[in-house]
Amino acid sequence: MPFILQERVSLKSFNTFGVEAQARWFAQVAGAADLQRLLDDSRVRDLPRLILGGGSNVLFAGDFNGLVVRICPRGIDDLGQIDGARLIRVAAGEPWAELVEHLVRSGRPGLENLALIPGLTGAAPIQNIGAYGLEVAERLHAVHAWDPVSGMVQDIPADQCDLGYRDSRFKRQIRAATVLGPQTLPVVLAVTLRLPQPWRPVTGYAELERELAARACPRPAAADIFDVVCSLRRRKLPDPAQLGNAGSFFKNPVVSREQHASLIERFPSIVSYPLAGGRYKIGAAWMIEACELRGVTRARAGVYEGQALVLVNRGGSTGADILDLACEVQERVQMRFGIQLEPEVQIIGDSGRLLSS
Ligand code: FAD
Ligand code: EPU
Repeated sequence: MPFILQERVSLKSFNTFGVEAQARWFAQVAGAADLQRLLDDSRVRDLPRLILGGGSNVLFAGDFNGLVVRICPRGIDDLGQIDGARLIRVAAGEPWAELVEHLVRSGRPGLENLALIPGLTGAAPIQNIGAYGLEVAERLHAVHAWDPVSGMVQDIPADQCDLGYRDSRFKRQIRAATVLGPQTLPVVLAVTLRLPQPWRPVTGYAELERELAARACPRPAAADIFDVVCSLRRRKLPDPAQLGNAGSFFKNPVVSREQHASLIERFPSIVSYPLAGGRYKIGAAWMIEACELRGVTRARAGVYEGQALVLVNRGGSTGADILDLACEVQERVQMRFGIQLEPEVQIIGDSGRLLSS
């Protein structure tokens, strides 16, 4: 992948909402040497900076008056068996969904529950991607991130990444960088994944259990789980190629036992799931639907009919339109349930994040 640095580049084809936005400067980099070149280039060195992967978890609320750095290194290295697991080192620019399918199909299972998640592998630890009962935290060995201060690539063990529900130390560093400056942004160049040996299926997720039972598949192989997850996702989520979206726009809120008891009393049919430690995860989609927002459209931005947690671009919507709709959803849920929904999608203003998440 050649190093590219261009002025005034449209980001429409680099974000899965498909909204129009322009980057003042746009670079495509394959590694540490290219990143160092950007640090040494006085035209862009001190500008606000956004690191971009596949653009499947960002909303551009307007033009980005800074430098967008698209991370593109490729490569998958099987490091073999090391203390009870197979280690695979993957470059940040590898598409995640293709990686999962390649590993399952080549007899290296362990990521099948995370099938079909869009985006690039470098972004996987940023929000600790998760689905169908598995988070990448459970399959991460280390993150290899470029350190702008030393110019070196740091190997950060998984237990130092501070991974939580759609959260990580990297996500907090990105949030802080809008204040501390672009040189403090983490740049993930590769991750090393850890596939447990012997393989064991992860099947505790209700929807997955139901679908496997419906297929009379009591002892699923990795390929069975992979196929069922792909089928569930294709049924439930819009294909960004057809309908611009970034998956779930909000996180599912986590509340205390007391808050949960009060919510159940006021809304007996609210959807919730018990978590370790006595807290509960509340189904955000259910609350949005209870506010009668499923399927609404405002200026070509919409709440997806198939899954109220997903906001969509029905064609010609701007990032600002989608942000306005997101704020309306937040306000309506806050008014009715007293819960502030937190965006999962990273909302990018003209020089950094607009809404914290
Ligand atoms: P981008 O959107 O490009 O970037 C996301 C954030 O990570 C930004 O803050 C960006 O600055 C930062 N970033 C990206 N690459 C790097 C890097 N190399 N170094 C440092 N920072 C970086 N997510 C889930 O967790 N589970 C799901 O089931 C799921 N389903 C989805 C379904 C659909 C249809 C869509 C559109 C999205 C879905 N997502 C899901 C969200 C999204 O796919 C993931 O968050 C994915 O990891 C984002 O990858 P990306 O490369 O597109 O990141
Ligand atoms: N849940 C459980 N156990 C279950 C079922 C659900 O813990 O058996 C939890 C889920 O982890 C989820 C919440 O309860 O956080 C609601 O689950 P639901 O099946 O209704 O899924 P959702 O909220 O529509 C969430 C993720 C999706 C992911 C699906 C499938 C968020 C914000 N969204 O969607 O991720 O694909 O579960 O696991 O958590 C995305 O992040 O963009 C995304 C699409």
